[in-house]
Amino acid sequence: MHSLETAPRPARAARPERRTFAIISHPDAGKTTLTEKLLLAGGAIHAAGEVKARGAARRARSDWMVIEQQRGISVTSSVMTFERDGRVFNLLDTPGHEDFSEDTYRTLTAVDSAVMVIDAAKGIEAQTLKLFEVCRLRSVPIITFVNKIDREGRGPFELLDEIADRLALDVAPMSWPVGMGGRFCGLWHFGSRTLDLPADDATGAFAGARVAATGLDDPALAAVVPPDLLVEVQEEAALAEAGYAAFDQPAYAHGDLTPVFFGSALKDFGIEQLIAALGAFAPGPRPQPAEPAPIDPGDPAVTGFVFKVQANMNPAHRDRIAFVRLCSGRFRRGMRLNQVGTGRSIAVHSPMLFLARDRELAEEAFPGDIIGIPNHGTLRVGDTLSERTDVVVTGLPSFAPEILRRVALRDPTRTKQLAKALDDLAEEGVIQVFRPELGGLPLVGVVGQLQLDVLVVRLSAEYRVEAALEPGPHNVARWIAADEAHALERFMADHRGQIARDRDGAPVFLARDDWELGYTARQNPAIRFWATRERRER
Ligand code: G4P
Repeated sequence: MHSLETAPRPARAARPERRTFAIISHPDAGKTTLTEKLLLAGGAIHAAGEVKARGAARRARSDWMVIEQQRGISVTSSVMTFERDGRVFNLLDTPGHEDFSEDTYRTLTAVDSAVMVIDAAKGIEAQTLKLFEVCRLRSVPIITFVNKIDREGRGPFELLDEIADRLALDVAPMSWPVGMGGRFCGLWHFGSRTLDLPADDATGAFAGARVAATGLDDPALAAVVPPDLLVEVQEEAALAEAGYAAFDQPAYAHGDLTPVFFGSALKDFGIEQLIAALGAFAPGPRPQPAEPAPIDPGDPAVTGFVFKVQANMNPAHRDRIAFVRLCSGRFRRGMRLNQVGTGRSIAVHSPMLFLARDRELAEEAFPGDIIGIPNHGTLRVGDTLSERTDVVVTGLPSFAPEILRRVALRDPTRTKQLAKALDDLAEEGVIQVFRPELGGLPLVGVVGQLQLDVLVVRLSAEYRVEAALEPGPHNVARWIAADEAHALERFMADHRGQIARDRDGAPVFLARDDWELGYTARQNPAIRFWATRERRER
């Protein structure tokens, strides 16, 4: 790979524990700032601003990414690895925009835990809730970080109650803000009985000033907290300890309880405690749902799955990186892995690890790690790669699109290029492509409007295909199946004009609207209509 600038990573002597996690939040809650502070604490970057700067540099590279800039969102996602206290932390970035829920969903299938960032002034917001629900589906344990306590926000009780009520979770406060906004005097940690103080200067950031106390009634605190505020916090803390659950590891691990850390990513409050909590509480690699049986991380055979494919990470070479989450075994560079279900085997010569700023060659990797495999389109989202041939990772569904469009070419001589472009972009998961049985224009399906904008810009910028997306007669797509093959065949024959095939050849029924879908389903009880489809074989 030309893009690799650094020497191969030396083999590690012992295997450090892995923590593979994602941060879920609503845009603006502080995910980027927190990411940056975690990377700084892990020594992966050396100055604040590098994550944003890196995002900007990346955006500058490709025309279609202008969309990201205009909308102030990050469409691409990446993996950042840092080490701290002898552990390896793999942070998977989830695209923040709701239009990309499918991509985000898949990223969340590759983590073992999540950090939920909440803006103290806003509480639980729409996107936080959606992402939380995805985590809950998979029982992904969650640590909560209530951010921006240096600003005026809602009170801690209101925030804790909102989390408990709206997410139906037990909450265990691990720290407590001593005043918020203008009255902010520091952050109290229940476990260590310490108070972290803001610096006396204009930044008001945490710079290491810490008071150790026997409790909130320790006279040492009276010297740094105004008396009325101290009394208030003593009362609040007593109420909180009586009123909320104590931290309970099994309840957290099952996704029933969330420890809640207050803090300020911008002012460095609560970062250390968050990393310590990830190290101490968050699970290492969990068994991966698979058939015929879940994959245990201790299984000696190397198995992983592709949860994301990204093109144009280096626009100079039309490279494509498949992001593979390792589930078991000890991966070594050069290894041959079976692309299960295809009969193909792939020699992985240039696997990459992703550091905050660089990629480097992975000499070896372990369960929980994410490796990037450069390829030219052989690897697809959902693929299982394994030393075994009898195992298929499950749980990476495709979602029925919410918007369907016909792709009309402005220049009919570019048909071949269009077909290739749609194929490539479908493989990346940017769009889904459906080909009507009776021929005619291909249909693209997306979950959100933004994906359509990205599609048009990328078709033009990368494939020099000028295309228009037109609404067609159909707006709803459902995968169809039946227990009896002949029932399915008959249904398809009777509805020929409304049948299309997805990329894998699976049949899809197209309806004008939900009413027609419901009607057809009632008329054809032998047929099952699915809004999601898991790709198990191809
Ligand atoms: P996101 O990735 O979740 O979208 O959020 P991001 O970190 O970009 O933060 C959104 C805004 O909130 C930024 O301000 C950031 O500086 C601010 N912020 C993040 N954490 C804290 C915090 O703990 N306290 C306070 N007071 N502000 C915080 P911005 O003005 O939109 O951007 P910038 O110009 O500062 O970069």
